[in-house]
Amino acid sequence: MKEQLEQIKRNALASLEAAATPAALEELRVKLLGKKGELTAVLKQMGKLSPEERPVMGQLANSVRASIETKLEERKSAIHAAALEAKLAAEAIDVTIPGKAVPLGHQHPMNQVLQQIKDIFVGLGYQVVDGPEVELASYNFTRLNIEEGHPSRDRSDTFYFDDGDTVLLRTQTSPMQIRFMENHKPPFCMLAPGRVFRKDEADATHSPMFHQIEGLVVDEHITMGDLKGALITMMQGIYGTESAMRFRPHHFPFTEPSCEMDMQCHKCHGTGEINGQVCSTCHGEGWIELLGAGMVHPEVLKNCGIDPEKYSGFAFGMGLERMAMGRLKINDLRLIFDNDVRFLNQF
Ligand code: DAH
Repeated sequence: MKEQLEQIKRNALASLEAAATPAALEELRVKLLGKKGELTAVLKQMGKLSPEERPVMGQLANSVRASIETKLEERKSAIHAAALEAKLAAEAIDVTIPGKAVPLGHQHPMNQVLQQIKDIFVGLGYQVVDGPEVELASYNFTRLNIEEGHPSRDRSDTFYFDDGDTVLLRTQTSPMQIRFMENHKPPFCMLAPGRVFRKDEADATHSPMFHQIEGLVVDEHITMGDLKGALITMMQGIYGTESAMRFRPHHFPFTEPSCEMDMQCHKCHGTGEINGQVCSTCHGEGWIELLGAGMVHPEVLKNCGIDPEKYSGFAFGMGLERMAMGRLKINDLRLIFDNDVRFLNQF
């Protein structure tokens, strides 16, 4: 019997050593230690032994069982560790492989120019504000001194929402003058960039939606000289100190006196022609109109509860797309809105 037990032990340890999977181990456990297992079969024969031999064999049988159990546990953890090792190796991420680059966009060229303009005016102490694109006719026209029947109020030019023509898509950023003056007491300097809308067919210089930047300064003793100083500072900041510009008298209902400011055409350099042909960018004028401006009309100040005897102010409204076209030497307005990356990538 002793021989039998030792044989069982040797065989068991050898086959446990050879088992490579948890399933194989389990099969062996049943075969070796289970109720119908080899060891149990031997133990059943204990009854046949003499009383002296029984405890000796019992002890030996127990030590064989203990060795098998220890080996079983050992193999179990070894197999488990090996499996884990293999899994980790298979799932390993190589952090040294270069990543896939996600193409990074950049600010739209028009917004780059807007940012430059804002920076200049913020440097001059202006506050930048935002306002609604859906506007009341009273703000867009009436309180800006634009009377009923004025051509700019015409349904052929303006997108109205109602039959009574009281709600519209703002045609200019000038209503921001009224909105700002309603809520602020002078002195103040404000800048209001935003989208405006007009019933225009799109061509090289027109679009039914475009951007304006409104400016408004009100204080005691503000003069046309302050207006020119602010606009020249802005122009030189954007186009450089060599840039040629001119002021022309004009008429706007909400300023008195009023003017327009032009810059020299960046395409033909003011000559109005290129290789004997009329310059298509300025239509032969040699100049490109950039903005309207003037001294705020006393009626407009009164409409906002500001005393025109004590305060005066200037205002301006410029076309952002025109500014960007000049700054970036773009010849067709539609390129700005097409969002073709081949175009955008150039800036
Ligand atoms: N709102 C005018 C336009 O769209 C531009 C303008 C002219 C704005 C004179 C002003 C201004 O603030 O004073 O044509």
